[in-house]
Amino acid sequence: MMQFYKTHSEDETITLGVEFAKRLTIKSVVTLFGDLGTGKTRFIKGVCKGLGVQEHVASPTFTLLNEYTGKEMNVFHFDFYRIKTISELDEIGFDEYLYGDGVCLIEWADRVKALLPSNRIDVFLKLGEDENTREISVHEIAEVES
Ligand SMILES: Nc1ncnc2c1ncn2[C@@H]1O[C@H](COP(=O)(O)OP(=O)(O)OP(=O)(O)O)[C@@H](O)[C@H]1O
Ligand SMILES: [Mg+2]
Repeated sequence: MMQFYKTHSEDETITLGVEFAKRLTIKSVVTLFGDLGTGKTRFIKGVCKGLGVQEHVASPTFTLLNEYTGKEMNVFHFDFYRIKTISELDEIGFDEYLYGDGVCLIEWADRVKALLPSNRIDVFLKLGEDENTREISVHEIAEVES
């Protein structure tokens, strides 16, 4: 399933994130793709707001991960912009977050593409026709029920 949105301000992108958060569960993995300044962190701010996170939400700069406490679940906010080698993922125990309990929100997911689970929600962000416009598409790979 693919959904397309267009936002015209950072607040609209945050609101989209709040709405999007309603579909998430404790096992969700959300991977964000998009160039610098396309709004990945703004979207995540909205998601965290929707999940009831009270802490300040910002990209981790000196670590790869920020952890927040949501109302019903923990939230793990990754940013792989500065990752140099994949071994850094082993050091932080990335897999345990991916397959553990808590929502994973991953900026610069393309940096670790080979290691991502196939059961995830992709969010693609692009600059739109003007400075405050963003084109955002959400692609959820349908999970096969067994
Ligand atoms: N429609 C919009 N949605 C989101 N951000 C917008 C929008 N219009 C303008 N902006 C601005 O674009 C910037 C988006 O910054 P943000 O940190 O969310 O991007 P990012 O994709 O996380 O970048 P980075 O790759 O550096 O982490 C902010 O300065 C924000 O004010
Ligand atoms: Mg960011």
